[in-house]
Amino acid sequence: MKALVLAGGLGTRLRPFTETMPKQLMPIANQPVLEHVLTNIRALGVREICVVVGEWGPAIEARLGDGSRFGARITYLRQEQPLGLAHCVALARPFLGDDDFVMYLGDNVVESGVAELAEDFRNHRSDAHLAVARVTDPRAFGVAELDTEGRVLRLVEKPSRPRSDLALIGVYFFGPAIHRAVAAIRPSARGELEITDAVQRLVEGGARVTAGEYDGYWKDTGSVADLLDCNRRLLDALEGDVGIGTDGRSSLNGPVRLGPGATVVRSVINGPVVVGAGSLIEDCHIGPGTSIGSGCVLRGAELRNSIVLDGARVTGRSGGSGSLISDTAEVHLDTPPDAPPGAPGGQPNALAREVAP
Ligand code: DAU
Repeated sequence: MKALVLAGGLGTRLRPFTETMPKQLMPIANQPVLEHVLTNIRALGVREICVVVGEWGPAIEARLGDGSRFGARITYLRQEQPLGLAHCVALARPFLGDDDFVMYLGDNVVESGVAELAEDFRNHRSDAHLAVARVTDPRAFGVAELDTEGRVLRLVEKPSRPRSDLALIGVYFFGPAIHRAVAAIRPSARGELEITDAVQRLVEGGARVTAGEYDGYWKDTGSVADLLDCNRRLLDALEGDVGIGTDGRSSLNGPVRLGPGATVVRSVINGPVVVGAGSLIEDCHIGPGTSIGSGCVLRGAELRNSIVLDGARVTGRSGGSGSLISDTAEVHLDTPPDAPPGAPGGQPNALAREVAP
């Protein structure tokens, strides 16, 4: 089996953060989303991985390299315009040949991995096997209708009136029949070649299309709230050391993982918290669910349920709710606790966004 990872697109819902980095490199527990993706793919024993990239290709390539760090070989493919998920399959046809492959959306975090789904795909000998999960509001997703044996009857992309609560979670297993279906579809109303249309075509042509329900935690990390939620969730699984790099006048409680060269001075850190290499935390109060990147300087800051990107400078106090703090400039957190983002006295939207805890 091969893997096709989709990491193009524009990431518009994560602006302004995606003006300096692609959404697929946003850190969750200090590891880019794409690295979580590659870890799950490698757990299937898959080594041949094609990553589709857009204009952020060089940054993604610089981070992931040739794949040897993951025990894999990565081929990069440039997609000039985000013309749809099925367009990526068509682009990758020479790489994929007639092999089975897993297509994995590069902005999805699937905490428990996809090994069981891969097993189902093999056992069912399906032409397509889709990962689905029950959601309360399916309108933002591809939605599947299944029969009682788990065969797919119908797929609709982001329906305004969903006919089931089963959302596609961004992991698809395909045999070579998908290529004929992709070649036969036309762009949708939004101008994209939709993978849901290609799979629907397989269904209508009598192919074996099945779905497996994933019931662990997963997230499409397309918004700030989703990133923070995902970060909190993955940090909950953290087992960390305590005490390295502290000055003796700090208190580190619960799982706290400090990267090499990270220093904590006169601060309180209540885990789960990760701190990247070389960061300095001085006179701070850092609460649970916080990831601080590498090379950051935080002085007198109060944060919890937050992500601080590599290289950020943060001084002053903040209210207790979640923030995503960018790497591009210095942030002074002197916000009254309830000030909305962008309000006078509130945090500048471009640098730190607050969302409901
Ligand atoms: O998260 C699950 C959902 O992902 C599914 O339920 C939907 O059926 C599926 O269409 C997709 O919807 P999104 O609106 O979330 O897709 P998005 O545009 O965010 O793209 C998903 C990933 O694929 C992301 O890493 C960007 C990449 N991509 C996207 C397009 C449209 C490409 O590489 N090329 C593209 O042309």
